[in-house]
Amino acid sequence: MPVKIAPSILSADFARLGEEIRALDAAGADYIHVDVMDGHFVPNLTFGAPVMKALRRHTARPFDVHLMIEPVDFLIPAFVEAGADIVTVHAEATRHLDRSLQVIKSLGKKAGVSLNPATPESVLAYVLDAVDLILVMSVNPGFGGQSFIASQVEKIARIKAMIGSRAIEIEVDGGINPSTAKTCIAAGANVLVAGSAVFATPDYAANIQALRG
Ligand code: DX5
Ligand code: ZN
Repeated sequence: MPVKIAPSILSADFARLGEEIRALDAAGADYIHVDVMDGHFVPNLTFGAPVMKALRRHTARPFDVHLMIEPVDFLIPAFVEAGADIVTVHAEATRHLDRSLQVIKSLGKKAGVSLNPATPESVLAYVLDAVDLILVMSVNPGFGGQSFIASQVEKIARIKAMIGSRAIEIEVDGGINPSTAKTCIAAGANVLVAGSAVFATPDYAANIQALRG
């Protein structure tokens, strides 16, 4: 699978979000990664579906929506209505993971599952046929700018082996820079989320290119 870059708007200038998304689009971002935090599942708050809906008209690139909210099922329709293309829920944030994935699929969107660093990949075993994307957190979710947790490379490799010939994307999120990107791609990841590394300098195109390796 070709490597895709999903810049996280968590590191964007929140006062200029529309403009920032247009800049990411022009810079060659494959997905726009939208980090939704509830101050409960994770110790930080970001934005909800109304803000995302306002951003939708600024790009045609897929919105890759990372829901760090608990409970989650009741809000999935709002994010789909606001323009989500991929909706990812945390395995730790839903009591009925299979049901959450069916909610997403019933709305015609791609369904993702995210795992915190301490969560084993075994929770995926019985939902693989319902999943389009697996998001491996390589930091504890909640904040940008944290250091990559190296133990997650092995998890990526194990997931790659588990999925076999299924067309499931493996995405990694947290502490991605050109060096950790290379390690994750080698282990089997094909979508790299990056906040700090993309927004580090004004040349977003060069920063995205550097991650592709
Ligand atoms: C963290 C978010 C990430 C975050 C990554 O909870 O899910 O998407 O923006 O930021 P960096 O790339 O700075 O680690
Ligand atoms: Zn994220």
